Amino acid sequence: MFVSECLSANENGHLMIGGCDTVELAKQFGTPLYVMDESDIIKNCKLYQESLNRYYDGNGLVLYASKAFSCMYMCKLMNDLGMGLDVVSGGELYTAWKAGFDMSRVYFHGNNKTDDELKLAVEHKVGTIVVDNVDELERLNRIASEKDVVVRIMFRIKPGIDAHTHSFIQTGQIDSKFGVALENGEAIEAYRRAVEYSHLKVMGVHCHIGSQIFDLEPFKLAAKVMMNFIGDLHDKLNIEIEELNLGGGYGIKYTEEDQPINYDAYIQAVSEVVKQMAQERGVNLPKIMMEPGRSIVAPAGITLYTVGGVKEIKDVRTYVSVDGGMIDNPRYILYESKYDAVLANKATAPRENVVTIAGKCCESGDLLIKDIKMPHIEVGDTLAVLATGAYNYSMASHYNRIPNPPVIMVKDGQAKEIVRRESYEDLLRNDIL
Ligand code: LLP
Repeated sequence: MFVSECLSANENGHLMIGGCDTVELAKQFGTPLYVMDESDIIKNCKLYQESLNRYYDGNGLVLYASKAFSCMYMCKLMNDLGMGLDVVSGGELYTAWKAGFDMSRVYFHGNNKTDDELKLAVEHKVGTIVVDNVDELERLNRIASEKDVVVRIMFRIKPGIDAHTHSFIQTGQIDSKFGVALENGEAIEAYRRAVEYSHLKVMGVHCHIGSQIFDLEPFKLAAKVMMNFIGDLHDKLNIEIEELNLGGGYGIKYTEEDQPINYDAYIQAVSEVVKQMAQERGVNLPKIMMEPGRSIVAPAGITLYTVGGVKEIKDVRTYVSVDGGMIDNPRYILYESKYDAVLANKATAPRENVVTIAGKCCESGDLLIKDIKMPHIEVGDTLAVLATGAYNYSMASHYNRIPNPPVIMVKDGQAKEIVRRESYEDLLRNDIL
């Protein structure tokens, strides 16, 4: 009935998540409110882990891409589930460390890690650094030698694959700021240099072709291209690669139009490609790493808002204004992303009117959903925007000095605050008068 499996309606026609009535959650914690279903997150992680066991003898690790949604509670949950972690900044790294994450299972990404961030990573014994370019390689080797340690690395490779997704979140092609390219020899040259550095140990290769991808083919192609590169590293440079990190990017269902790939089928297909290519190229079977972010958390999250006004402009449009917007969900203003919404207090009512859900920021483009069919909406209704668990909280801003909403984790009818609501005082925390 709803786009996300973790949602249902109760006998009062209220939207339910994790055994909790969303109308009650809105009353108890206020709005705007991010709500996440813990069991759904766990289920999504296990799906990847079990598929990796089934099709590849568990020879690898599923890393959660924490940029999708990072906080200490989430890091602890991922640690307890035996997941690895992809971090992309000193802040994400520090969050994981503070939450007690096993740092040996952390992979540190980013196209311009600063010296301070690299030092932090080395000091906290981050398992693997995914090096973006040779400048970073040199800086990292210097830092590792100053600290007299050997750091495990892999390069981020641009496999030259054009995955059909929004151009801002597509990264595998040569014209990208991320990584080193295959087709112009940049990648092999980077490895030639890397093996000469005494304080770096080359472990693997990494690629990430984009995000919100619905097609299996580009993933299979990426695995093939990367295995060929592993073959080249073996033949030309005598480097034995142990880890193949294939990144994330698996699409999810935001609206009924979206048809995500079956993640199990993805792992099966990719495992086959890797096994076949290993044989063809005469190289050892690498461990397979993957880095899902969105598909772990997006479907598990919703955002609750209170309707503050309904502006009917005859023959033009009806704007429904809510108490959040681009501050807590900037994905419409950035990518014109599509979402589905449900009136949480009338979740089963027929959808009869086309309305546009507007945020409260001083910006005409601050919309959450343009043209969506909804039941009759009144001031005071609770509106739930669905599938907001990824890249919402993590991309929130303070535009217009609006404090960020809290995050509530729900499970088996219990609700727990895992990130506190920001106060006005929080906004002033670093101001100096
Ligand atoms: N690994 C790497 C190296 C990445 O760059 C990313 C996402 C992931 C894994 C996780 O990808 P996922 O499974 O979540 O698609 N802000 C955009 C998404 C940017 C994704 C950036 N990298 C959005 O809101 O759609």
